[in-house]
Amino acid sequence: MFFTFGMDGKSDCMMIIGHRGAMGYRTENTLSSFQYAMELKLSMMELDVQMSRDGQLVVFHDRTLERLATKSGQISDYSLEELQKMALPDGEKIPSLEEVFAMASGKIRLNLEIKMQNISDKLSASIRDYLSHYSLKVEDVVVSSFDHRELLRFQSLLPEVPLAVLYYGIPVSLDDVFSRMNPLAVNLGLEFLDVALVKEIHSTGRVVNVYTVNEESDFRLVENYGVDGIFTNYPERFLTRS
Ligand code: G3P
Ligand code: CA
Repeated sequence: MFFTFGMDGKSDCMMIIGHRGAMGYRTENTLSSFQYAMELKLSMMELDVQMSRDGQLVVFHDRTLERLATKSGQISDYSLEELQKMALPDGEKIPSLEEVFAMASGKIRLNLEIKMQNISDKLSASIRDYLSHYSLKVEDVVVSSFDHRELLRFQSLLPEVPLAVLYYGIPVSLDDVFSRMNPLAVNLGLEFLDVALVKEIHSTGRVVNVYTVNEESDFRLVENYGVDGIFTNYPERFLTRS
Protein backbone atom coordinates (compact mmCIF):
# COMPACT_ATOMS: atom_id res chain seq x y z
CA MET A 1 0.00 0.00 0.00
CA PHE A 2 1.36 3.41 -0.91
CA PHE A 3 -0.30 5.66 1.61
CA THR A 4 -1.71 5.64 5.08
CA PHE A 5 -4.46 7.78 6.56
CA GLY A 6 -4.11 9.24 10.03
CA MET A 7 -6.97 9.30 12.54
CA ASP A 8 -8.01 12.76 11.34
CA GLY A 9 -8.50 11.46 7.80
CA LYS A 10 -5.28 13.14 6.69
CA SER A 11 -2.21 11.31 5.44
CA ASP A 12 0.64 10.70 7.82
CA CYS A 13 3.01 12.09 5.20
CA MET A 14 2.75 13.56 1.75
CA MET A 15 4.13 11.57 -1.16
CA ILE A 16 6.26 13.67 -3.51
CA ILE A 17 5.84 12.35 -7.05
CA GLY A 18 8.27 13.59 -9.67
CA HIS A 19 6.28 15.00 -12.59
CA ARG A 20 7.53 13.70 -15.95
CA GLY A 21 10.59 12.65 -13.94
CA ALA A 22 11.89 15.89 -12.52
CA MET A 23 10.93 18.23 -15.35
CA GLY A 24 11.77 21.44 -13.48
CA TYR A 25 15.45 20.48 -13.71
CA ARG A 26 15.80 18.28 -16.81
CA THR A 27 14.03 17.81 -20.16
CA GLU A 28 10.67 16.24 -19.31
CA ASN A 29 10.02 12.53 -19.78
CA THR A 30 13.65 11.70 -20.63
CA LEU A 31 16.05 9.24 -19.03
CA SER A 32 17.97 12.21 -17.68
CA SER A 33 14.84 13.51 -15.97
CA PHE A 34 14.08 10.06 -14.56
CA GLN A 35 17.68 9.61 -13.42
CA TYR A 36 17.50 12.90 -11.54
CA ALA A 37 14.22 11.89 -9.85
CA MET A 38 16.00 8.74 -8.72
CA GLU A 39 19.03 10.68 -7.46
CA LEU A 40 16.60 12.68 -5.34
CA LYS A 41 15.44 9.34 -3.93
CA LEU A 42 11.79 10.00 -4.75
CA SER A 43 9.57 7.04 -4.06
CA MET A 44 7.56 7.56 -7.26
CA MET A 45 7.79 9.36 -10.58
CA GLU A 46 5.17 10.02 -13.24
CA LEU A 47 5.53 9.63 -17.02
CA ASP A 48 3.30 9.78 -20.09
CA VAL A 49 2.88 6.77 -22.36
CA GLN A 50 2.06 6.70 -26.08
CA MET A 51 2.58 4.19 -28.92
CA SER A 52 4.72 4.51 -32.03
CA ARG A 53 3.61 3.64 -35.58
CA ASP A 54 5.24 0.23 -35.23
CA GLY A 55 3.45 -0.53 -31.97
CA GLN A 56 6.21 0.27 -29.46
CA LEU A 57 5.47 2.11 -26.22
CA VAL A 58 7.32 5.37 -25.78
CA VAL A 59 7.34 8.15 -23.21
CA PHE A 60 6.12 11.52 -24.44
CA HIS A 61 3.57 14.04 -23.20
CA ASP A 62 2.21 16.16 -26.04
CA ARG A 63 -0.24 15.13 -28.76
CA THR A 64 2.17 16.53 -31.34
CA LEU A 65 5.96 16.57 -31.58
CA GLU A 66 6.57 20.26 -32.33
CA ARG A 67 7.24 21.67 -28.88
CA LEU A 68 10.05 19.30 -27.90
CA ALA A 69 11.19 17.44 -30.99
CA THR A 70 10.79 20.26 -33.57
CA LYS A 71 9.18 17.77 -35.96
CA SER A 72 5.63 17.85 -37.25
CA GLY A 73 3.03 15.19 -36.65
CA GLN A 74 2.32 12.82 -33.82
CA ILE A 75 4.12 9.98 -32.05
CA SER A 76 1.96 7.48 -33.96
CA ASP A 77 3.26 8.82 -37.30
CA TYR A 78 6.78 7.53 -36.62
CA SER A 79 8.50 4.23 -35.82
CA LEU A 80 10.40 3.81 -32.55
CA GLU A 81 13.67 3.99 -34.46
CA GLU A 82 12.65 7.28 -36.12
CA LEU A 83 11.45 8.73 -32.82
CA GLN A 84 14.68 7.85 -31.05
CA LYS A 85 16.71 9.69 -33.70
CA MET A 86 14.89 12.95 -32.94
CA ALA A 87 16.82 15.44 -30.86
CA LEU A 88 15.09 16.80 -27.78
CA PRO A 89 16.43 19.79 -25.78
CA ASP A 90 19.81 19.23 -24.07
CA GLY A 91 20.66 16.37 -26.43
CA GLU A 92 18.05 14.10 -24.90
CA LYS A 93 15.93 11.57 -26.76
CA ILE A 94 12.48 10.02 -26.49
CA PRO A 95 12.76 6.92 -24.27
CA SER A 96 10.99 3.65 -24.82
CA LEU A 97 8.88 2.50 -21.88
CA GLU A 98 11.15 -0.50 -21.48
CA GLU A 99 14.18 1.75 -21.01
CA VAL A 100 12.39 3.43 -18.11
CA PHE A 101 11.49 0.12 -16.48
CA ALA A 102 15.11 -1.03 -16.84
CA MET A 103 16.32 2.18 -15.18
CA ALA A 104 13.69 2.18 -12.43
CA SER A 105 14.25 -1.47 -11.60
CA GLY A 106 13.90 -1.84 -7.84
CA LYS A 107 14.68 1.83 -7.18
CA ILE A 108 11.54 3.90 -7.77
CA ARG A 109 7.85 3.28 -8.35
CA LEU A 110 6.19 4.36 -11.57
CA ASN A 111 2.94 6.18 -12.34
CA LEU A 112 2.30 5.51 -16.03
CA GLU A 113 -0.22 7.92 -17.50
CA ILE A 114 -1.97 6.59 -20.61
CA LYS A 115 -1.93 9.47 -23.09
CA MET A 116 -3.26 7.70 -26.19
CA GLN A 117 -6.37 5.68 -26.97
CA ASN A 118 -6.24 1.95 -27.67
CA ILE A 119 -2.88 1.19 -26.11
CA SER A 120 -4.11 -0.88 -23.17
CA ASP A 121 -3.56 -4.24 -24.87
CA LYS A 122 0.06 -3.44 -25.58
CA LEU A 123 0.58 -1.70 -22.23
CA SER A 124 -0.84 -4.53 -20.15
CA ALA A 125 1.22 -7.13 -22.02
CA SER A 126 4.35 -5.00 -21.72
CA ILE A 127 3.92 -4.36 -18.00
CA ARG A 128 3.43 -8.08 -17.43
CA ASP A 129 6.61 -8.74 -19.37
CA TYR A 130 8.67 -5.99 -17.69
CA LEU A 131 7.59 -7.02 -14.19
CA SER A 132 8.99 -10.46 -14.84
CA HIS A 133 12.28 -9.07 -16.24
CA TYR A 134 13.02 -6.14 -13.95
CA SER A 135 12.98 -5.79 -10.18
CA LEU A 136 9.57 -4.20 -9.85
CA LYS A 137 6.51 -5.63 -8.17
CA VAL A 138 2.97 -5.12 -9.33
CA GLU A 139 2.35 -2.59 -6.53
CA ASP A 140 5.32 -0.54 -7.73
CA VAL A 141 3.29 0.50 -10.79
CA VAL A 142 0.18 2.67 -11.02
CA VAL A 143 -1.63 3.27 -14.31
CA SER A 144 -3.59 6.52 -14.63
CA SER A 145 -5.54 8.34 -17.32
CA PHE A 146 -8.04 11.07 -18.05
CA ASP A 147 -9.50 8.52 -20.48
CA HIS A 148 -11.60 6.45 -18.10
CA ARG A 149 -12.79 4.09 -20.84
CA GLU A 150 -9.18 3.23 -21.60
CA LEU A 151 -8.58 2.65 -17.88
CA LEU A 152 -11.55 0.28 -17.78
CA ARG A 153 -10.09 -1.63 -20.69
CA PHE A 154 -6.71 -1.76 -18.96
CA GLN A 155 -8.31 -2.99 -15.72
CA SER A 156 -10.04 -5.82 -17.57
CA LEU A 157 -6.68 -6.94 -18.98
CA LEU A 158 -4.42 -6.55 -15.95
CA PRO A 159 -6.61 -6.04 -12.87
CA GLU A 160 -3.77 -6.59 -10.40
CA VAL A 161 -2.08 -3.30 -11.36
CA PRO A 162 -3.39 -0.36 -9.28
CA LEU A 163 -5.22 2.42 -11.12
CA ALA A 164 -5.55 6.16 -10.61
CA VAL A 165 -8.42 8.12 -12.17
CA LEU A 166 -7.43 11.56 -13.40
CA TYR A 167 -9.79 14.54 -13.34
CA TYR A 168 -9.35 18.08 -14.58
CA GLY A 169 -12.50 19.53 -13.11
CA ILE A 170 -15.04 18.58 -10.45
CA PRO A 171 -17.26 15.60 -11.35
CA VAL A 172 -20.96 15.66 -10.43
CA SER A 173 -20.56 12.20 -8.99
CA LEU A 174 -17.84 9.59 -8.53
CA ASP A 175 -20.33 6.76 -8.12
CA ASP A 176 -20.31 5.66 -11.74
CA VAL A 177 -16.52 5.42 -11.92
CA PHE A 178 -16.24 3.63 -8.57
CA SER A 179 -18.97 1.17 -9.49
CA ARG A 180 -17.18 0.24 -12.72
CA MET A 181 -13.57 0.20 -11.57
CA ASN A 182 -11.68 0.13 -8.33
CA PRO A 183 -8.97 2.79 -8.48
CA LEU A 184 -6.44 3.06 -5.69
CA ALA A 185 -6.27 6.82 -6.19
CA VAL A 186 -8.02 9.82 -7.65
CA ASN A 187 -5.64 12.40 -9.05
CA LEU A 188 -7.08 15.91 -9.10
CA GLY A 189 -6.01 19.12 -10.81
CA LEU A 190 -4.89 21.86 -8.45
CA GLU A 191 -7.06 24.40 -10.29
CA PHE A 192 -10.24 22.55 -9.32
CA LEU A 193 -9.26 21.31 -5.89
CA ASP A 194 -12.25 21.15 -3.58
CA VAL A 195 -12.03 20.11 0.05
CA ALA A 196 -15.46 18.41 0.00
CA LEU A 197 -14.34 16.31 -2.97
CA VAL A 198 -11.13 15.33 -1.15
CA LYS A 199 -13.17 14.23 1.88
CA GLU A 200 -15.62 12.32 -0.30
CA ILE A 201 -12.79 10.38 -1.95
CA HIS A 202 -11.13 9.69 1.41
CA SER A 203 -14.43 8.38 2.76
CA THR A 204 -14.25 5.62 0.14
CA GLY A 205 -10.77 4.64 1.39
CA ARG A 206 -9.03 5.97 -1.67
CA VAL A 207 -5.98 8.17 -2.02
CA VAL A 208 -6.02 11.74 -3.36
CA ASN A 209 -3.04 13.12 -5.27
CA VAL A 210 -2.90 16.60 -6.77
CA TYR A 211 -1.14 17.86 -9.90
CA THR A 212 0.81 20.05 -10.39
CA VAL A 213 2.05 21.60 -7.16
CA ASN A 214 5.12 23.76 -7.65
CA GLU A 215 4.66 26.67 -5.26
CA GLU A 216 5.01 26.76 -1.49
CA SER A 217 1.60 28.43 -1.04
CA ASP A 218 -0.06 25.65 -3.04
CA PHE A 219 1.80 23.03 -1.06
CA ARG A 220 0.44 24.51 2.17
CA LEU A 221 -3.08 24.53 0.69
CA VAL A 222 -3.04 20.88 -0.33
CA GLU A 223 -1.42 19.92 2.97
CA ASN A 224 -4.26 21.66 4.74
CA TYR A 225 -6.77 19.80 2.61
CA GLY A 226 -5.17 16.53 3.71
CA VAL A 227 -4.20 15.26 0.28
CA ASP A 228 -1.90 12.26 0.16
CA GLY A 229 0.52 13.10 -2.61
CA ILE A 230 1.54 15.77 -5.07
CA PHE A 231 2.95 15.71 -8.55
CA THR A 232 5.60 18.38 -8.79
CA ASN A 233 8.09 19.63 -11.36
CA TYR A 234 10.37 20.70 -8.50
CA PRO A 235 10.58 17.85 -5.99
CA GLU A 236 13.64 19.38 -4.30
CA ARG A 237 11.44 22.18 -2.96
CA PHE A 238 9.25 19.82 -0.97
CA LEU A 239 11.37 16.81 -0.07
CA THR A 240 12.09 18.00 3.45
CA ARG A 241 8.36 18.54 3.95
CA SER A 242 7.18 15.04 3.11
O1 G3P B 1 -0.65 12.70 -13.91
C1 G3P B 1 -0.73 14.02 -13.49
C2 G3P B 1 -0.47 15.00 -14.60
O2 G3P B 1 0.69 14.61 -15.28
C3 G3P B 1 -1.61 15.12 -15.58
O3 G3P B 1 -1.46 16.18 -16.47
O4 G3P B 1 -0.94 17.22 -18.63
O5 G3P B 1 0.85 16.94 -16.97
O6 G3P B 1 -0.06 14.97 -18.17
P1 G3P B 1 -0.37 16.32 -17.60
CA1 CA C 1 1.17 13.29 -17.16
